[in-house]
Amino acid sequence: MIQIGIDYYPEHWDRTLWDEDFARMEQLGVHTVRMGEFSWCRLEPKEGEFHFEWLDEAIGLAARHGMRVILGTPTNCPPLWLFERHPDALQYDPDGTPTHLGIRGHRCMMSPVLRRYAAKIVGLLAERYGSRPEIAAWQIDNEIESNHCTCPTCTALFRQYAQTKYGTLEALNKAWGTDVWGGEYSSWQQLTPPLLRSGFRRDWYNPAWLLDYERFCSESAADFVRFQTELIRARAPKAVITTNSCFSGGMPDFHRMFEPLDVAAYDNYPPVTLPKDPEQLYSNAFALDFIRGIKQKNFWILEQLGGPMGCWGPISPSMEPGMLEGYALQAVAHGADLLSFFRWRTSISGAEMFCHGLLDHDNRKNRRLTELEGLCRRLRKLPALSDTTVVSQVAVLYSSEQEYALKNQRQSERFAYWTQLRLLHDAVLSMGVNVDVISQNASFEGYRVVLVPTHFVTDPNVAARLEQFAASGGTVVLTNRSGVTDRNAKGIPGRSLPTAFSAMCGCRVMEYDAIGSKTQLMRTTRGGCYRITGWCDLLELDTAVPWAWYVGRYYADIPAISKNHFGKGTVYYVGTVGERAFYRVLMKEALTEQGIETIETLPQGVEVCTRTGPGGGYRFFFNNTLDSQRFLLGSSHMVLQPMEVRIQTVSGEWV
Ligand code: GLA
Ligand code: ZN
Repeated sequence: MIQIGIDYYPEHWDRTLWDEDFARMEQLGVHTVRMGEFSWCRLEPKEGEFHFEWLDEAIGLAARHGMRVILGTPTNCPPLWLFERHPDALQYDPDGTPTHLGIRGHRCMMSPVLRRYAAKIVGLLAERYGSRPEIAAWQIDNEIESNHCTCPTCTALFRQYAQTKYGTLEALNKAWGTDVWGGEYSSWQQLTPPLLRSGFRRDWYNPAWLLDYERFCSESAADFVRFQTELIRARAPKAVITTNSCFSGGMPDFHRMFEPLDVAAYDNYPPVTLPKDPEQLYSNAFALDFIRGIKQKNFWILEQLGGPMGCWGPISPSMEPGMLEGYALQAVAHGADLLSFFRWRTSISGAEMFCHGLLDHDNRKNRRLTELEGLCRRLRKLPALSDTTVVSQVAVLYSSEQEYALKNQRQSERFAYWTQLRLLHDAVLSMGVNVDVISQNASFEGYRVVLVPTHFVTDPNVAARLEQFAASGGTVVLTNRSGVTDRNAKGIPGRSLPTAFSAMCGCRVMEYDAIGSKTQLMRTTRGGCYRITGWCDLLELDTAVPWAWYVGRYYADIPAISKNHFGKGTVYYVGTVGERAFYRVLMKEALTEQGIETIETLPQGVEVCTRTGPGGGYRFFFNNTLDSQRFLLGSSHMVLQPMEVRIQTVSGEWV
């Protein structure tokens, strides 16, 4: 059974409301209640004075209403008394000064003082609740980002990180290429985080320094998760532990961060205003496929869109009819086994008082709650859904290293790592084919097609594994700006691009043109002519054959895309950034060659995803648009209302 949950903050509400709230949730058929993640100041109002009674009561009450609790560790917001006594627990901003208190997430994850207090509170929580049957799982902290902290502790730890990695200053200087702009280190003390203040741009710093700092900040966040996981496991070895991730500019390496955790989880806030740009249509599907790819298995949603957003922008438009259910089932279609809605009732105070929950301040039943009731009824009729998973034959490779490096050094206007990932994903998904977004370090076993958007920071291991994958019959699609730097973000001397990938691609880049936002054309061997932008690699083919050529300018008729038979497999090299339609044509060819069936009749914004299991499976059709959509599916006409999800068993029956 897919689990339905509610995010609830007992500490925000008068005690007299709790019983009624839980009773209403019980009536809905809610399985889990998530609580506690911001409640440290209530749990330990004064140093060493602990108050668990209220939480005991809330957990007990939830249990009496048939619900289990997902308990948050409260480390995102340590109490103010802690910072007053220990300013060194504060996070420091990129400019090297302590951040301001009063929002949230302002703790330094590496501060020894913070760790000491965190160990105490998390330890006590785990002792008290860890083995209790009422606890379904633990959420560590809240939406953890990379610990981009510049405090004295983090500065010292960054030095240590570099020292462990490079051993000597000489090795570090060489690896980072610090001779440029006279930046050679002659003592470890000179090494600091790359400090930023307004007017400074990241890309003025040595990219090797930036990349290692990003790795360090990400690793610090992962360490914080590991630290808390161990605290809980030591007291409750069977505890199910996770954390709620979100995409942000400060994203840690999720694959690493989730390593010690049991299940990947995500906060799912799909757009209430649907994107006009067709390139954005499948962006939420991408996010879900990414989260599933973290552990290559089903995942949880710990915050699911329950009402119009606010605070992080002005209040968003209200959700259209069908949106609450549609987006919830979209997540299920992509592999979510638990959906916890954010939040029961809209807060009446604080910055997020207009970031709406399911209920408004008036606490009356409304359209959103009615829609959730319908969703719960629908899911109750599909108990076998949770025995299924999303199995994909196509994978898109992701790496936070590429993301960091390409953010540190933008290559061209209209060319971004995230866009590269999304264009490839979009082309496959929009033809009704399941696709996983996985770590570049994950196994390729079980896949037939591996898509590699811009492998910029070259990992020779990944290159070797891709070669092997292609040689043994797989298809690889590699895009421009691959093989550009070594693992330290330093250029690779004396070799043509795409360096480590040249042999498998059977081509080399003679010259490139970073055309920025200019638009040009290319024509393909399949007859089409497409707009291109951002980047043009001028290819010289070795064993490869051309798949597309440039049109016009001084490189007319020079290949832009190549195709190479390599061993038993095929490798495509895409030297430019094309319009959306082009990727569909390329993917259609690559997928068909591997015997993967596509559906080409899906209108833009209609999504198909399949979950399968030992007892059969389900195919989800989701209309992620506000128009009704009519299309041919095989020989029959299919109609989907706005935001409608229809579910078919693999044997063809509608459920
Ligand atoms: C995030 C946080 C929540 C809340 C929501 C809504 O996902 O985890 O605490 O702020 O956003 O904005
Ligand atoms: Zn710090």
